[in-house]
Amino acid sequence: MSFELAIPDYIARVDGVLATTLPPADVVPVKLHEAMRYATLNGGKRIRPLLVYATGGMLEVETHLLDAPAVAVELVHAFSLVHDDLPAMDDDDLRRGKPTVHCQYDEATAILAADALQPLAFEVLASAPRVEQAQLEMVRILAHACGSLGMTGGQAIDIESEGQQISPDLLRKMFEQKTGALIVAAIEMAATLSPNLGKERHRALQEFARCLGLAFQIRDDILDIEGDTETIGKPQGSDIAHDKATWPAVFGLAAAKDECDALYARGLQALSVFGEAAEPLQVLAHIIVRRDD
Ligand code: IPE
Ligand code: IPE
Ligand code: MG
Ligand code: MG
Ligand code: MG
Repeated sequence: MSFELAIPDYIARVDGVLATTLPPADVVPVKLHEAMRYATLNGGKRIRPLLVYATGGMLEVETHLLDAPAVAVELVHAFSLVHDDLPAMDDDDLRRGKPTVHCQYDEATAILAADALQPLAFEVLASAPRVEQAQLEMVRILAHACGSLGMTGGQAIDIESEGQQISPDLLRKMFEQKTGALIVAAIEMAATLSPNLGKERHRALQEFARCLGLAFQIRDDILDIEGDTETIGKPQGSDIAHDKATWPAVFGLAAAKDECDALYARGLQALSVFGEAAEPLQVLAHIIVRRDD
């Protein structure tokens, strides 16, 4: 079956594992567990888990081994969104078409829910089926991707850059870290589970991941301008309202679209070493650069 047709099944699969991984909402502390579930089981495109399944599928990794990295990267992503929306950060009140966690509950609960989602990701990886070396390597990859040289560092640059002139180099670094790092980690974790990837194909996969990670955030910035609140499920125009350093703000909207297209083309080119087996990642790349939400 083509990967495109299988996407709803993979989303249902990761949603199912997330639902059983998160503590039940009736376990004390109830509000904390409700908020963790609210932050995670509320839709979302599940692009990062899909990248895990697509990469693993392309490399013939058994699907059951991919559940742990798929769930772990989505938990870290969910935690990052809860913090991203807080009043001290982007101060947004809508996420995935619903009130953000601090609006639905309160700020303290949102901070704590995110605090608890992050270690749960690593508990999932550490409890995964044992795959010798790969298991520890996946922990290392995800930890690095969400730390100060990855997502958290990128978010720090984002906040420091509000209302500032930012150089193209720093903007690129911010994008690679705040968004690219988790996208690269999703692909790298799946690649780690492949016993005989080889250096050349690994480098090609990394190049694809870097291109699509950047393209993902550029598309997100474009949608903040051209999307509508109902479709994107978050407040349209939030970046401009907060004077954010975005790709369109620094380079202009047309240049942002061109860069997104160029990164897509470069990403596909990198995949060519995998031949027809690359179909799952080609499909996701297309979704990433053409999506409306
Ligand atoms: C939003 O990510 C945050 C960014 C890194 C741009 P997504 O667009 O993947 O959000 P969900 O998970 O589908 O809600
Ligand atoms: C988010 O960037 C990156 C994260 C690490 C969460 P944005 O602030 O642009 O994401 P949205 O638009 O709120 O989803
Ligand atoms: Mg932000
Ligand atoms: Mg935001
Ligand atoms: Mg955004």
